[in-house]
Amino acid sequence: MAKITYIEHDGTEHALDVKSGLTVMEGAVKNNVPGIDADCGGACACATCHVYVDPVWLDKTGDKSAMEESMLDFAENVEPNSRLSCQIKVSDALDGLVVRLPESQH
Ligand code: FES
Repeated sequence: MAKITYIEHDGTEHALDVKSGLTVMEGAVKNNVPGIDADCGGACACATCHVYVDPVWLDKTGDKSAMEESMLDFAENVEPNSRLSCQIKVSDALDGLVVRLPESQH
């Protein structure tokens, strides 16, 4: 279980307990957090689960796979801390994680 804070583009915060084993995307979708559409259901094939990982968490969330990198090419306003939230697995190590949601997914 990890407490994850999702911050919408307008600053609205959603602090949620997300079960280990789910992805950061699934935690948002199950709790109806707006701004993560996840059209492909987590198959790394749509880039509508784009988030910005708070820089202090970048080490813990790991590296992007080559497939994730290539999907991010289709996302708007990609930054160095951009990730596809369906590719980040939740574990106790991510307790306190903060992600921001891009304006383009609203
Ligand atoms: S849900 Fe489609 S790429 Fe993440």
